[in-house]
Amino acid sequence: MNKLQVIVATLAAVGLAGAALAEDLSQEKVEQAIKYRKNVMTTMGGEVGTAIGRLRDGFDYGPSLEAVAAGLVANTQDIPALFPEGTDFGDTDATAEVWSDAQGFADKAQQAKDAAAAFSEAVSSGDKAAIMGAFKDLGDACKGCHEAYRKN
Ligand code: HEC
Repeated sequence: MNKLQVIVATLAAVGLAGAALAEDLSQEKVEQAIKYRKNVMTTMGGEVGTAIGRLRDGFDYGPSLEAVAAGLVANTQDIPALFPEGTDFGDTDATAEVWSDAQGFADKAQQAKDAAAAFSEAVSSGDKAAIMGAFKDLGDACKGCHEAYRKN
């Protein structure tokens, strides 16, 4: 090898190593993104479960239901943002349609966001029938998206 060949070979090796590193990092980022959104979803599952218990047993637990409703409002603010482009492979139950039918997914996300807001308003009103109705609508919104965009 002459000097130029050595330089070219070295650059190529460094380049390859760099590319491999970048790939590892992005793989790690994908895994983190999937984990993060699953955690947010699991949190919402906990919030819904907590609300059910509260609505069923009828005790007055103070402002805890308001807090649960506020959490659901916050966590449904921007569900599509939890599904960045390129996080469609790996340990995920999201279907490819989350990205190929982004508008449909956004519509389902909007329904959940609206339902969470309505639930929160109903909770503030204290009207039991309104709370139950809004809670059912919210559950339907979660389910509606899962049926269309999650591998069940
Ligand atoms: C706009 C669509 C959409 C809405 C609305 C939605 N989800 Fe999800 N949810 C998903 C998708 C897609 C997954 C699969 C995520 C993955 O595996 O990467 C998921 C996963 C989950 C999981 C499983 C998490 C895990 O660890 O695998 C739970 C629990 C969950 N959602 C609860 C809820 C609840 C409760 C609501 C309503 C308050 C809700 N979701 C609303 C799309 C949605």
